[in-house]
Amino acid sequence: MATAKVNGVEVEFEPGMTVLQVAELAGEEIPRFCYHERLSIAGNCRMCLVEVKPGPPKPQASCALPAAEGQEIFTKTPMVKKAREGVMEFLLINH
Ligand code: FES
Repeated sequence: MATAKVNGVEVEFEPGMTVLQVAELAGEEIPRFCYHERLSIAGNCRMCLVEVKPGPPKPQASCALPAAEGQEIFTKTPMVKKAREGVMEFLLINH
């Protein structure tokens, strides 16, 4: 079992799980449109963006990102909120 932190809460997870699945273990609901646990990962809609440390200083698609030992996952930062709003706005304008 590996461990990661989701919004400061330590969680144990099985290797091979995605960041989205680890966040769910911690009780964090991440919005998603294209992810389903029984389908292959598409990673297209970008609605599941989260902030991850260590990592680049930009939001990452949590459904397509493998969780790693010692990772810190943030689902409610201003950067994440702004990114999700941008995705939602884009989808509403174009559909
Ligand atoms: S749920 Fe669509 S990109 Fe992650």
